[in-house]
Amino acid sequence: MIMKDTFYITTPIYYPSSKLHVGHTYCTVATDVMARYKRMRGFDVIFLTGTDEHGQKIETKAKEKGVTPKEFVDSIVSAPGGVLDLWKLMNISNDRFIRTTDDYHCKSVQKIFKKMYDKGDIYKGKYKGKYCVPCESFWTDSQLVDGKCPDCGREVKEAEEEAYFFRLSKYQDKIKDLLLNTDFLEPKSRVNEMINNFINPGLEDLCVSRTSFSWGIPVDFDDKHVVYVWIDALTNYINALGYENDKYNDFDRYWPADVHFVGKEIVRFHSIIWPAILMSLELPLPKKVFGHGWLLIDGGKISKSKENTTVNVVDPMILAQRYGVDAIRYYLMREFPFGSDGNFSNELLINRINTDLANNLGNLVSRTVAMVNKYFGGKLPADQLSIPEKDDNLISAVSALRDTYTDYMEKYKFQNAVSEVFKVIDMSNKYIDENEPWVLARDEANLPRLACVMYNLLESIRICSLLLTPFMPDTAAKITAQVGSDKSTWDDTVWGGLPKEAQVVSGENLFPRIDLAKELEELAAIETELKKKEAGPAAVETEPLSEEFVEFDNFVKMDLRAVKVKACENVKKSKKLLRFTLDDGTGTDRQILSGIAEFYKPEELVGKTIAAIVNLPPRKMMGLDSCGMLFSAVHKENGEEKLELLMLSDTIPAGSKIC
Ligand code: ME8
Ligand code: MG
Repeated sequence: MIMKDTFYITTPIYYPSSKLHVGHTYCTVATDVMARYKRMRGFDVIFLTGTDEHGQKIETKAKEKGVTPKEFVDSIVSAPGGVLDLWKLMNISNDRFIRTTDDYHCKSVQKIFKKMYDKGDIYKGKYKGKYCVPCESFWTDSQLVDGKCPDCGREVKEAEEEAYFFRLSKYQDKIKDLLLNTDFLEPKSRVNEMINNFINPGLEDLCVSRTSFSWGIPVDFDDKHVVYVWIDALTNYINALGYENDKYNDFDRYWPADVHFVGKEIVRFHSIIWPAILMSLELPLPKKVFGHGWLLIDGGKISKSKENTTVNVVDPMILAQRYGVDAIRYYLMREFPFGSDGNFSNELLINRINTDLANNLGNLVSRTVAMVNKYFGGKLPADQLSIPEKDDNLISAVSALRDTYTDYMEKYKFQNAVSEVFKVIDMSNKYIDENEPWVLARDEANLPRLACVMYNLLESIRICSLLLTPFMPDTAAKITAQVGSDKSTWDDTVWGGLPKEAQVVSGENLFPRIDLAKELEELAAIETELKKKEAGPAAVETEPLSEEFVEFDNFVKMDLRAVKVKACENVKKSKKLLRFTLDDGTGTDRQILSGIAEFYKPEELVGKTIAAIVNLPPRKMMGLDSCGMLFSAVHKENGEEKLELLMLSDTIPAGSKIC
């Protein structure tokens, strides 16, 4: 048996302090694209993802919710609608999923910690920092907000606690060499950041245990300490292969990893701390760390903390439900260069779907299949097919595509790889227009030529769809089926693979066009709904009831009437006043001014039946007479004034007495 080459690729393990957003989806989709591509190339792939479930933040959040930390992470990771479901929905083909609360991982971490301790690379010392007593949290100076606790905003004080440290400084020179003299870290711009910001100032030893919280893996030889973050989180990459545990047994086969995909803010941990830990363990280093950029909204990183206060429609589940998983996957890979930041917007997403997927790809497939159906009853006449010179352009473009695509894929330039495919899709659409099959079809003598044009189109579509498989697995499979092919391997991505008697199969419309304006409106409505839900029930405040009696005689003097709004307009130069022209049943219009302009648009009120007192002495306001007052219900909601005019049933005639 021939052993396949291996390819081991990972995503960061996600911190499940709240639901994942489209920024997290970005990295996981990219990893999935790479994994699927490598599988197609014949590699024996392991694609690992997972969740990083320990730490103080989780402990605190669980406490707030009144559940155990494990219950809390379960609610985000394994509960319906959680991380596992999200990856299933997004068609993520990970081979393993590690949770740092998994028993085997915890045991491996304890052994790793002990190994490094025994070697003298971990030692006991004192951790000094700023401490927030109520939150029981240490903060670094850079984490403080205006010198105060970033979580609760209260004063912090200098404090120290006993902690274990990892001798990171010992590995300074080796790490510097690794970064400067190898291709370990990419893109290259990230190397300069690491050298300038961390290596040149000098690496300090790293605090790797804590005693101030307990939600973590206990240091087994000193169990008032829990392992702090990095030895726990980073070693997932080896533990998931069975390092120091019996759960898996393929460390030797798959380690070192071929590539770790990570977001730019954790490049430091992956390109400095992680190799140092591995050096300490005397293990081979991963071949590459690739630091991708962030998805931004309005220039700021899409992040969990923001998500907590403002829900926006970046929930990948909502997006996938509305537009389809493949459209989202495609957009994420097509819109943003993998190494740089990019601005995410729903408008860009919808435009991308409409132009690339509906207009170009979807149209090409449906037009071609429809023509083969119409002109040849769905099956090309194999005996009439010849491949003449004049189609060289298309054929050579399709034939060259695989190599260009591969070059880009190997460099993690997903955007470029996929653009190349779409150039050929564009070209194929033009090929239809240039060859005017509908004109050829008018003359029987042209049938061989028409068959050839159709074959070339089907073949171009087939190869493009195969190369799109890593990006849009379901769509690609549907397209290959529609053009009558059942082949899906890398070897099939060369010209001529489609049998000449291919039978096309009409299918569904792959990407229906989306009405941008309408869709954006609906998304905005969803967002408002989500925000409302998240805010919970509003805090309503009403005025206390009056303790003073009103004389009955005074009360009965008030003449209250139902009136109908004949006209209503803003009073010029006043932000507050609306001018009402009212039918009070007397036949003469009554004018009342009311200071409710911030609550109503005048046109909303025309035709309404409302309540007014009509025997107040007239008052001048902004030079206009106001003859009476209208009745409204008022309260406060989350501190904000709310007002609604008292509306009466429209069946009540104008002038009816209210008593
Ligand atoms: O960092 N755009 O977990 P995490 C692109 N547990 N990527 C984004 C993003 C955005 N807007 N927001 C987040 C952790 N990410 C650690 C990792 S690995 C041993 C431990 C990316 O859930 C982010 O850059 O905070 C990171 O790579 C990943 O999501 C996980 O972030
Ligand atoms: Mg093992």
